[in-house]
Amino acid sequence: MPPISLTDKERAMMLGMATAALQHAYAPYSKFRVGATVITDDGHLYTGSNVENASYGLTICAERAAIFNAVHQTQGKLKLRGIAVVTENDVPCSPCGACRQVIAEFGANTAVVFRGQTDYIEMSIADLLPETFRLT
Ligand code: THU
Repeated sequence: MPPISLTDKERAMMLGMATAALQHAYAPYSKFRVGATVITDDGHLYTGSNVENASYGLTICAERAAIFNAVHQTQGKLKLRGIAVVTENDVPCSPCGACRQVIAEFGANTAVVFRGQTDYIEMSIADLLPETFRLT
């Protein structure tokens, strides 16, 4: 499957919005704020940030918050083209395994961009999660 590529303008917009979104994180336990932006196949953008809970396991990552927001806003018809993830870390932080499975659900070849303070890495979800679990 050919990799989905983002334009420089799209990537810059997504990273900028994810950086703004991380300001809205609720991360009083880890103090690790994460923001994410989803781009749909028709170019719409949706954001999310991580939301923690005193019962730690109930925490939701920024990637899934952004994707679930996009699913709702697209009336359950999300076709994912890309997702950008920003943390306050110096090094780019790739999505956790659970988020990779959710990304793959909505786009088998989604472009995943993750950035720390300076540089970014861009990979397809097919490379980040080979042999994705599927029911069909
Ligand atoms: N987190 C994310 O938002 N995305 C990831 O891919 C990994 C981790 C969040 C969850 C938790 O609130 C904090 O980062 C520390 O693990």
